[in-house]
This record gives sequence, C-alpha cells and structure tokens, in this order.
Amino acid sequence: MGNTFLENTFAQDILKGLSSYPKYLPSKYFYDAKGDALFQKIMQLPEYYLTKAEFEIFERQKENIVNAFSSRTGKFHLIELGAGDGYKTKVLLEHLLGKQSNFEYVPVDISGNVLNLLQNDLKTSMPNLEVSPIVGDYFYALEKISEQDHDRKVVLFLGSNIGNFNQKNANGFIKHLSQELNEGDLLLTGVDLKKNPKVILSAYNDASGVTKAFNFNLLDRINKELGANFILDNYMHHPTYDPQSGECRSYLLSLKKQEVHFADLETTIEFEAYESIHTEISKKYALRELQDMAKGAGFTVIENFIDSKGYFVDTLWEKL
Ligand code: AVJ
Repeated sequence: MGNTFLENTFAQDILKGLSSYPKYLPSKYFYDAKGDALFQKIMQLPEYYLTKAEFEIFERQKENIVNAFSSRTGKFHLIELGAGDGYKTKVLLEHLLGKQSNFEYVPVDISGNVLNLLQNDLKTSMPNLEVSPIVGDYFYALEKISEQDHDRKVVLFLGSNIGNFNQKNANGFIKHLSQELNEGDLLLTGVDLKKNPKVILSAYNDASGVTKAFNFNLLDRINKELGANFILDNYMHHPTYDPQSGECRSYLLSLKKQEVHFADLETTIEFEAYESIHTEISKKYALRELQDMAKGAGFTVIENFIDSKGYFVDTLWEKL
C-alpha cells in the first residue's frame, strides 16, 4: 500500500506542501467532483462579481470582440484554455456563428468529463458549430494544433484563471504561450482588476459560506483519498488582500495545536495554534501591469473590454 501511495502525484504534492514551512496546498486540487460543483455555486453568489462582470462584457461588447477575431482573413482556431462549462463563451460562439465566421472551436481542459458535457451541450444548442476538443494540458494542446496546420489562432483564457499564478509564474506562462503563437495570432485574457478591497474580500468570504466550503473541501478530499484525519471544525477559512501585489490569498488556519495522521503513509503532520496553510492566489491587476506584461512577452494590446462597474477586463493582445 505504501508504494501505491508514493507513486500517486496527488499524495506527493499534498505531503510536500504540508511538510513545507510555511505550509501550502496546490489550488488545482480544489477541483474534484464536489469542488467543481462548489465552484459552480460560487459563480452564482451575489458577492462573486467576476463571472457576472465578464458575462456582461461579452453580452454588451460581443460585436467589437468578435469583429476583432474575424477582421483578418482565413479560417481560425478559437482555442479556449480551461473551457469549463462554456457558459460565457457561448455568447461569443453564437455571435461568431451568426456572422458566418470561418472558425473551429477547440475547447481544452484537463478534465475529459467536463469536455464531454460541453460537447454534448453544444451539439444540441449549436449544431452548426465545428467543435474539436482536446483533453490535456494547455501547452500539449497548443503544440498539437501547431503540428496539424498553420491556420490562425485566437486563444481564450477567461474567468480570471490567470489570477491563480503569482506575478513571476504569470509572466512565465504568458511568455510560454507567446512562443506557441505566430505573428498576428490573438490572445483574449479575462482578468480581475484592482478595486476596493472590501468588494474583493467579500467575493472570497461570502455570507452563505460557499467559498469556505470550497476551501474546506480540499481537507475533506485529503481525508477521503489519503486516509487522513483532518477535523474540519478545527480550522478556519481566512482570505486576505494586498492592494500592492493585487494578491487575494486564501488560507486555512489551524485553530489549535494539533496533529493530523495519514493512515496510508504512517505519517503525521503537526500544526501549531494559528499556523497557516496557503491554498490559493487570486491575483488582481491594474491595466498598466497588463500592458507591461503584454510588452514583455512580445504582444501588443489591441483593446481592453471593461464592464460597466470597472471591475473586470477582457484584454485582447496580438502577437508581434
Ligand atoms: C476559477 C481561479 C478564477 O480565483 O476567483 C473562486 C477560483 N476561488 N473563489 C478565483 C475561486 C475562490 C477562481 N478562479
């Protein structure tokens, strides 16, 4: 049993994070079936303005967004990194179809399950849409597309997913993306903007406790999958926001000195009272920081599409 455990990357990543000081857990592990469902609930919360703001941008500015995609000649691949349920993207897809644009939609996700749901949904709601999903990580997908043909690429990276990176990793990610694109290719990134810290903190600490449950689900998952014995009542959910770095960080705090035992590995992790586990970064940007990031990675900013409250931007860049 010990060997199976050691070969499991989930187990390795969790143990590495909890054996570090300060402790951390990778946010990608939020998304098991229960975590996916909780995130769906988060997107419906009145406090979680991000999804609503991006949806409004697409609803009200689709004409300009879509014109920017199809103003150049030739067929293009519309590649969505981390497609999820496609709720917002459908607004753009419908509009592109209505204009008889020559494109193929390529949703990319590490979850084959999510992609199947999306593909079935699109088959009925948009039967004329050409859909070619790719299961895998983002760069695997981009390389695969480049090998197949040299059609233009328009890449979508929506929903503030870039916020899960700190500045250094975000720069690295954008540079890597840039290397996979050709001159004239486009990148539309959905980014949460710096704003009143109270607005941000309530989005990550909602009154009904859904975000808390989302954060706690990680401990529950570790209990279930790794035979650990976290007592959830012994921890609290604690988000913070630093207006300078723009990082909204989520923590779990141990309310007392305690030990957690991992039965499958004969390992014990110790916690001091109020010791933290860092679980997530949801970074917010200023427009000027995005401009610098684009420039540093060989892009030029074509247009910033911003919602009516000034909360969120879908920033459109062209590869130089
Ligand atoms: C899916 C990464 C964009 O950071 O806002 C929502 C995840 N975490 N509430 C975000 C999340 C807590 C979300 N992203």
